[in-house]
Amino acid sequence: MANKADNDQMGAYTEAVQSGLYAKQTGLVGKYDNVRRYWEDEITRDFIRPHLQELMNYKRSSMQRIRIMDIGCGSADGYELLAGIRQRDPDLQDSQINLLTPDMLGVYCGVDLNEDLLHQAASYYGHHPKLEFRQADFTQGLPLDKDERSYDLYFASYGTWSHHNQDETAVRLLADIARRTDEYAIIVCDWLGRYSYEWQTLWTNDLTENRNMDYVVSYIYEKEEREARRDELQHLTLRLMCRQEIDAIVGAASKEAGTEIKPLRFFDRSILTGRHMDTADYNPHAQPLRQAVNVLHESNVRADLNSLLVNYVPKAGFDFINDYFEHLQMCWNTLVEYTGMLLKEYDHEKEEISTNIRPIPASYPEVLRRMMERMRRVVENTGWLGIGLPRENVIEPQLGYALRHLVTTLQQGQGCAHGLVGVFEVKKG
Ligand SMILES: C[S@@+](CC[C@H](N)C(=O)[O-])C[C@H]1O[C@@H](n2cnc3c(N)ncnc32)[C@H](O)[C@@H]1O
Repeated sequence: MANKADNDQMGAYTEAVQSGLYAKQTGLVGKYDNVRRYWEDEITRDFIRPHLQELMNYKRSSMQRIRIMDIGCGSADGYELLAGIRQRDPDLQDSQINLLTPDMLGVYCGVDLNEDLLHQAASYYGHHPKLEFRQADFTQGLPLDKDERSYDLYFASYGTWSHHNQDETAVRLLADIARRTDEYAIIVCDWLGRYSYEWQTLWTNDLTENRNMDYVVSYIYEKEEREARRDELQHLTLRLMCRQEIDAIVGAASKEAGTEIKPLRFFDRSILTGRHMDTADYNPHAQPLRQAVNVLHESNVRADLNSLLVNYVPKAGFDFINDYFEHLQMCWNTLVEYTGMLLKEYDHEKEEISTNIRPIPASYPEVLRRMMERMRRVVENTGWLGIGLPRENVIEPQLGYALRHLVTTLQQGQGCAHGLVGVFEVKKG
């Protein structure tokens, strides 16, 4: 039988387990998997950086700090995303330089309808003097009191705008923001892309069809558990969106507000790596590519590069999109296969890549050639390391970054990914 002293000791472990911080960390599954942290958050940061920079310059020039409203904030993920935007990729000598420095943040106001998520947000950030949270339904318009000061950045992430199942509520929210802007504001909206490969069965050329999808939150479970729990899984109704539909919504909102809401940029986020690639719930041809990319970024775990090879199956009647995905597939697979070849041809004795590797054809797209060359240098310069699993811990994550750069460079902001993000500005005077 355990004595009292032993039991007293156990309290420390119980507390640690209850804190959740004693759990095994993995980037292979879950909301904050490797793709979310190393691809999705970073891609979003890269695209938003110049607009946040411009907004900050404007605020600085008028001796003001920046006020942020995160619409559909969940547990304040938007704060973490924005606070992590760097001025640029720092040099080796620099310490990391965040763009949104603490002194420049006036206030971050997170808005959400879900009480549990707001509690979670408050438990993480309740102590932070400049972060506040409020419960409101954004389909009822902008949650801003009559005499409350307006915000400079209205931010939303990870498909939040797809919760507007009726376009009227999206128009109203945008129009409210435009009306309440004093001089200058940036708006970031994030929808589910209509032409993501994940839900190819839902693609339609008639934009009055399949406006909202029945989105099953099945990806949080591993395959077997997913099937066992199929009947009890949560469903969301979410709007699928393409550029043409956004133009119509933004045009209507500008008209309603009497102020132009100007599109600055669109980008496709998570092109072949959306969460439903792994479930194949809406496309029987979808391959578990998110899982494969998660492995690339997982320390000490060796990836099977064959699991990264894409075999895109076209859909009749969508030539433009099929052409895009075919080109992307060819570039993606070429980079993966080339990296596999470099690994195979690395001569450990001579500490160099054998001469069997053919030169990179000049006919290849420029970004592909650059990423292939990059991988050649990565393998050549680190293959000899030996200690510390150079393939798993250096070469494979670098292949992940090279693939990420490839897809972000080739993206067209048309809704061909899990997320279609739009950045807009309202300028008065
Ligand atoms: C896809 S999640 C995104 C959460 C968070 N922004 C993130 O980046 O992870 C959408 C969020 O919008 C919230 N939401 C959905 N409908 C809403 C509504 N009508 N009004 C306010 N919040 C809503 C949900 O509770 C959820 O937190």
